[in-house]
Amino acid sequence: MDDNLNLYFDNAATSWPKPEAVYKAPEKQMRQAYGNPGRSGHTHTLESDRLLYQTREAIGRLFSFSDPARLIFALNATDALNIAIKGFLNPDDHVLYTAMEHNSVLRPLGRLRRDELISTTMIPCSNQGYPDLDYFEKAFQNNTRLLVVNHASNVTGTIAPLKEMIESAHRRGVKVLVDAAQTAGVIPIDVLKENIDLLAFTGHKGLFGPTGTGGLYVAPWIDLKPLREGGTGSQSEIDIHPESMPERLEAGTLNSTGLAGLLEGVNFILETGVEEIHRKESELRDYLYKQLQKISGLTLYGPEFNSHSVSVLSFTLNGADCGEIGYILESNYGILCRTGLHCAPMAHQAIGTFPEGTVRLSPGYFSSQDDLDYLVNAVHDIVQLASE
Ligand code: ALA
Repeated sequence: MDDNLNLYFDNAATSWPKPEAVYKAPEKQMRQAYGNPGRSGHTHTLESDRLLYQTREAIGRLFSFSDPARLIFALNATDALNIAIKGFLNPDDHVLYTAMEHNSVLRPLGRLRRDELISTTMIPCSNQGYPDLDYFEKAFQNNTRLLVVNHASNVTGTIAPLKEMIESAHRRGVKVLVDAAQTAGVIPIDVLKENIDLLAFTGHKGLFGPTGTGGLYVAPWIDLKPLREGGTGSQSEIDIHPESMPERLEAGTLNSTGLAGLLEGVNFILETGVEEIHRKESELRDYLYKQLQKISGLTLYGPEFNSHSVSVLSFTLNGADCGEIGYILESNYGILCRTGLHCAPMAHQAIGTFPEGTVRLSPGYFSSQDDLDYLVNAVHDIVQLASE
């Protein structure tokens, strides 16, 4: 593997490198079995149908559900969240969400709120990114229908107390939409045992797939209004979009080329084991946290204990410009990371880093301790430089 790959610490934005098979599968799909799934009866189409079915099944195995039809493909987590939020909510509904939500949740909710269709309540979070559960318990209203929870923050890595929040919501008949953008493929998720009603995820982060892939698990008891309607290759004689899943929430030609890569990413995870991926990433984050903690002048954001977080952590340096630190990390050391607000302004309000943001480091499954030592030394150098 190219040495440069090891300097990539932006896996929370998109994972890289990918398992080798992920690179190869899209090319093979385009060269050997390129047909429009569901649209004709020839061999290329049938091969594409098989690929989509296998991908739905593999994702079902990963999240422990048995009916592949409950999985609909989407462009990314934002797309899946839009399909869920706009397909589920009715006028006058009330929605709860946490301060750690990404703009992929804040903006669709904000639009519906500004259009005076729904009302919302944001659950405040601590400076470690944990939702205030006392506030949460008191925030339900008679018309609350949906709770949206970011499973793990893309700013601090903090894992939300999903079990408590789902139990509490369900006691009141409120459904739960989980944003698994940062957790799919990196911490075990069992939608049935965990009673998750809707699970939105992207394909290009923890699942190691290409960009333009993702999906939404829709529990059998949830019915969503379709956001898009159009060609499905089925019931073409009627001008009403089919009711049956997954067509009900999918319209137009799917990204079968990208999904060929996603299938290989998911297969890699199923072979490696999510627990093993989580174990390794936790070890890396723990090591990074402990090493950075030794550097005076840095403020770290996110839980100290790796069991409470995914492999993401943020830091600031005594008021130094985060963008500038990111620039020096890349130009002087070849280190790639993400700085700023990470599309999660409320999360930065909660941890006290708004509007400047943070420098975010997100090692991945393919990072090593040597890579982290290099990164820590670079940060150490920059801190020294800043204090001179
Ligand atoms: N949401 C992605 C990130 O946190 C893109 O960087």
